[in-house]
Amino acid sequence: MDNRVYTFDTTLRDGEQVPGCQLNTVEKIQVAKALEELGVDIIESGFPVSSPGDFNSVVEISKAVTWPVICALTRAVEKDIDVAAEALKYAKHKRIHTGIGTSDSHIRYKFNSNREEILERAVRAVKYARKYVDDVEFYAEDAGRTDNEYLARVVEAVIKAGATVVNIPDTTGYCLPEEYGAKIKYLCEHVDGIDKAILSTHCHNDLGMATANTMAGLLNGARQCEVTINGVGERAGNTALEEIVMILKSHHDIDLQTNINTRKIYPVSRMVSSLMNMPVQANKAIVGRNAFAHSSGIHQDGVIKNISTYEIIDPKEIGLDGNAIVLTARSGHAALRTRLEALGIAMSGEKLDALYQEFLKLADKKKEINDDDLLVLAGSERADNHHIKLDFLQVTSGVGIHPVASIGLDIAGEKFEAAATGNGPVDAAINALKKIISRAMVLKEFTIQNITKGSNDVGKVHMQVECDGRVYYGFSANTDIVAASVEAYIDCINKFQN
Ligand code: KIV
Ligand code: ZN
Repeated sequence: MDNRVYTFDTTLRDGEQVPGCQLNTVEKIQVAKALEELGVDIIESGFPVSSPGDFNSVVEISKAVTWPVICALTRAVEKDIDVAAEALKYAKHKRIHTGIGTSDSHIRYKFNSNREEILERAVRAVKYARKYVDDVEFYAEDAGRTDNEYLARVVEAVIKAGATVVNIPDTTGYCLPEEYGAKIKYLCEHVDGIDKAILSTHCHNDLGMATANTMAGLLNGARQCEVTINGVGERAGNTALEEIVMILKSHHDIDLQTNINTRKIYPVSRMVSSLMNMPVQANKAIVGRNAFAHSSGIHQDGVIKNISTYEIIDPKEIGLDGNAIVLTARSGHAALRTRLEALGIAMSGEKLDALYQEFLKLADKKKEINDDDLLVLAGSERADNHHIKLDFLQVTSGVGIHPVASIGLDIAGEKFEAAATGNGPVDAAINALKKIISRAMVLKEFTIQNITKGSNDVGKVHMQVECDGRVYYGFSANTDIVAASVEAYIDCINKFQN
């Protein structure tokens, strides 16, 4: 069996389904180009029939990306397949990813159908997609909970119908690694014509087993893994690309290779986290802030004597360069541009000039500007199009006094002011804001990302605000944490006021 593992990245489809983490087309192109440089083989770029925005993103990514296969998702429905084929018109290498639920639960409750009918629909969809493209991937949704004998019949039938790749999703993240590995092995051993297609893993992390299940699938014969950067995805997320790639790279006993340039992993991880406003947990494997930080005395002693005592990966292998240039107020345009390029952000001309001015303002407030700060600055222009902007904010708070805030908003050019008290400075400021924006809004989540580099650091605020039964996500970063909180709240409001 071939030892090449194809990396299928679904950050822009399954990963992007996370509420509040949606990207616009320009941001998606930025991520797609970074994935191309990373060496991803297949980029799943959207579900075109789901919205005009998704359709347009698939079109634009198809134009922007050169060598990876561009894939579009569909249901086993002719209309979906027609729309996907149209969206993929400009792709140099294209794939339609069609499928249907195969577990008894999906067949009965989702489709009110039976196994034979579902099998026929699967075959029809694959044949229909093959009229448009040579590369058709079939997914058996909820394969993790599908009876193996029936699954093997479906897989055999879709391969006969022309599927080139067959995806075995553990949609609910339920499988144990032994069970998932055995499922792939069963298919390899019981499906006639299995050599004509590639089996793919697609694991969700609901029980924290997505990486283990993907590895079990690969070790038992799957040769494509469906993954996302930082493991982003609905609920507990999908299998993280960086984990699978670095497992395969560090375990020399496993003879499986990917095409990933691992030195690009860290910059792509930061870019996706920043664009999606989704912080990477500090102890996240491979790309978390603490992934290479040895703090216990025993570990530090060992690492000083010989790095291999406690470190299984050289951080440089994932692009984490301990000697990375730290920018200061004395750094010039060229240094800024070089650092942005290292982070996967190409900027020049007026845009770079404008960012440089923002950079100088921040460098005046804090001495050293790190990569996280740069990513925040590079993303801050998204707030320029806001309908509602923060004009001014004044807060008085302290020990033994009642916090008071006065706020000024610019709403489409018109100025509004209000003042209020609260049980703390943020509460006072938000109460004042609510006097101007009088809609029923409930703050559902409020996270201030750790400030680890000194009291002058930028604080990052993530918020979720509910309005009319829907939850909206907002983000801001500022050296003033109260201002960052109010700006994040305003970021949420701008989303439902649009
Ligand atoms: O998890 C899943 O089953 C999916 C399919 C649509 C491929 O994302
Ligand atoms: Zn999925």
